[in-house]
Amino acid sequence: MTEQTPAKVLPEGRMEKIVSLCRRRGFIFPSSEIYGGLSSCWDYGPLGVELKRNVKEAWWQAMVRERDDMVGLDTSILMHPQVWAASGHLAGFTDPLVECKNCHLRWRSDELKEDRCPSCGGELTESRQFNLMFKTFMGPVEEDASVVYLRPETAQGIFVNFQNVLNTTRKKLPFGIAQIGKAFRNEITTGNFIFRSREFEQMEMEFFVKPGTDGEWFKYWLEQRLNWYLKLGIKKEHLHLREHTQKELAHYARSCSDIEYLFPMGWAELEGVANRGDFDLTQHAKSSGKGLEYFDDETKEHFLPCVIEPSAGVDRSVLAVLCDAYAEEPDPSAPLRTGKEEIRVVLHLHPALAPFKVAVLPLSRRENLVKVAKEVYTDLRQGWMVSYDDAQSIGRRYRRCVTVDFQSLEDKQVTVRDRDSMNQIRIPIAELKNTLAAKLAGEDILVLPPGGKVWKEERT
Ligand code: GAP
Repeated sequence: MTEQTPAKVLPEGRMEKIVSLCRRRGFIFPSSEIYGGLSSCWDYGPLGVELKRNVKEAWWQAMVRERDDMVGLDTSILMHPQVWAASGHLAGFTDPLVECKNCHLRWRSDELKEDRCPSCGGELTESRQFNLMFKTFMGPVEEDASVVYLRPETAQGIFVNFQNVLNTTRKKLPFGIAQIGKAFRNEITTGNFIFRSREFEQMEMEFFVKPGTDGEWFKYWLEQRLNWYLKLGIKKEHLHLREHTQKELAHYARSCSDIEYLFPMGWAELEGVANRGDFDLTQHAKSSGKGLEYFDDETKEHFLPCVIEPSAGVDRSVLAVLCDAYAEEPDPSAPLRTGKEEIRVVLHLHPALAPFKVAVLPLSRRENLVKVAKEVYTDLRQGWMVSYDDAQSIGRRYRRCVTVDFQSLEDKQVTVRDRDSMNQIRIPIAELKNTLAAKLAGEDILVLPPGGKVWKEERT
């Protein structure tokens, strides 16, 4: 809702290149493509689904598994309609809409630079507030009494379960509840690939704190969340914070700052960190008639906690990761193959996010080599997404790979090549898992975990 239109624009064509790469390599396809596609809906292909899962996994690891003050949740997309009345979404989750009287295209009036239709120049209607929630019917009868909504944010599933979580986990303030899931918004204008669509995924966390400490926790979470993107390799100069003006604040927010990324179309919101105060719990307590107060054992007080909410988009994170990783560089193997210089596209994805961690390649299809290579492959795939390829001379296509050659049969060693440096090391098969684990954890591949030995590096 009410997002700023990106201002600064990067070199033209970069987004188109990324969209085309995603299509060609099987990261992201238009939804229902054989029927001409469905506007602003996207399907993640074989590589995209792995990348997206890795983004969510990295978030869950940092937000839930590595913290003592956090629990997870997975709530339903369809909720009691009263939830949306109480949360203010029925009344206030709107964007201002105008329609062209000539071509009938619809626009967000707050995004228009002129008061005529950007498409045909036609006259526009008066602006009216358009609710972004998708409506549907529960059960076999299509009547007002059975209207339900597809959730426009996952957060409300967390608020309505606050007491359930308190009762079952006995968590003490401050603590958070995290959830990853689909959200739906009938956006008036969509676009910029997966940046703004009508069906998307959110990674949201509601952090419940004692009133009065919310300001400090707000700063804490802003910093934590910015660092999460940096840790995943997003370039520092492509990230910044932008504080919302009073006019921009959502109906529930006391304050809010966006973590913005420099997308190809300009700076735009990747994640919002909001101080929601006690707005949501107050509303649900009133509307449901249930006591949602927290009892503080130490002070013997009952009160409604305040909430700090970092809310990130999965799809926008995937897009930012792809944009940041995209590089065009000279293909070092091209002169050997074709006698000419060629440019290749490389995605320098962080090891934790890369869809495939490694490829296992026997140097030939000889039975004894294939046997060893398949054993290596079977072993590695227990822990990671690994590809196996025994097509002839395929080695050149892979940047990060484990090659099993004839010498491997004698010395039980394999050659490992690093994707980014293209450096090669030869290591015992028995050390392969540890070496890869160290590399994927961001350590230098030449430094093995404690007790390990430093292997000699050979430049290709
Ligand atoms: N619970 C708070 C909330 O939903 P928001 O700023 O409206 O706040 C949070 O949304 C995040 O969800 C955004 O920062 C963005 O990453 C993602 N998001 C929102 N609308 C989106 C859309 N139409 N398409 C893709 N991602 C979207």
